[in-house]
Amino acid sequence: MSARISAVVVDDVDAVIALARVVWQDAYAGIISQEQIDYMLGQRYNTSRLLEELGSPEVWWDKAQVDDELAAFASTLLTNVPGEMKLDKLYVDPLRQRLGLGARLIDHVAERARARGCHTLMLAVNKRNARALAAYRKHGFVEREAVRVDIGNGFVMDDFIMSKSLSAGG
Ligand SMILES: CC(C)(COP(=O)(O)OP(=O)(O)OC[C@H]1O[C@@H](n2cnc3c(N)ncnc32)[C@H](O)[C@@H]1OP(=O)(O)O)[C@@H](O)C(=O)NCCC(=O)NCCS
Repeated sequence: MSARISAVVVDDVDAVIALARVVWQDAYAGIISQEQIDYMLGQRYNTSRLLEELGSPEVWWDKAQVDDELAAFASTLLTNVPGEMKLDKLYVDPLRQRLGLGARLIDHVAERARARGCHTLMLAVNKRNARALAAYRKHGFVEREAVRVDIGNGFVMDDFIMSKSLSAGG
């Protein structure tokens, strides 16, 4: 399978929002409630939020296309810890998972982080998201701490913080 990685642009916003809905439904039903899925999708994947992030110099959105179709996307941002970049989102079309697209996007964002002098790529992942935990471990991330974050409306994110060292070859 040949995939092309490039930056998400304004014309991709509707497709990113649509793909996010498909992946979230597939990944999180059974982990968090439908109400929490809808709440978090509404907060994170709306047109104005995406356009704002696409215009930000400290947030990067990347996409992977297969046969010119959006197959996966990722976003990364600088945290307030020097030398650290956060992989904030990584979502692969359920029909295209386990084919290496997640790995391609992780390599891509790790390269950007290195180029900006970062030594660590970190992320937050739901403790019950076994599929993502397996993928992140395989791709060099290790659990750093457990956190519970109140996100409003009575919802919490029950996550592991994982990080990957970006030192030589890491
Ligand atoms: C997590 C995710 C991004 C990984 O992307 P991917 O393209 O499927 O991953 P890759 O092909 O690069 O890596 C595959 C490896 O991940 C792990 N993995 C992926 N899917 C898995 C599954 N269903 N069960 C067990 N392990 C799985 C395995 O280690 C696998 O390696 P293997 O196939 O050799 O056993 C993707 O599964 C996804 O989008 N999941 C739903 C959304 C999500 O949870 N995103 C992360 C939010 S923090």
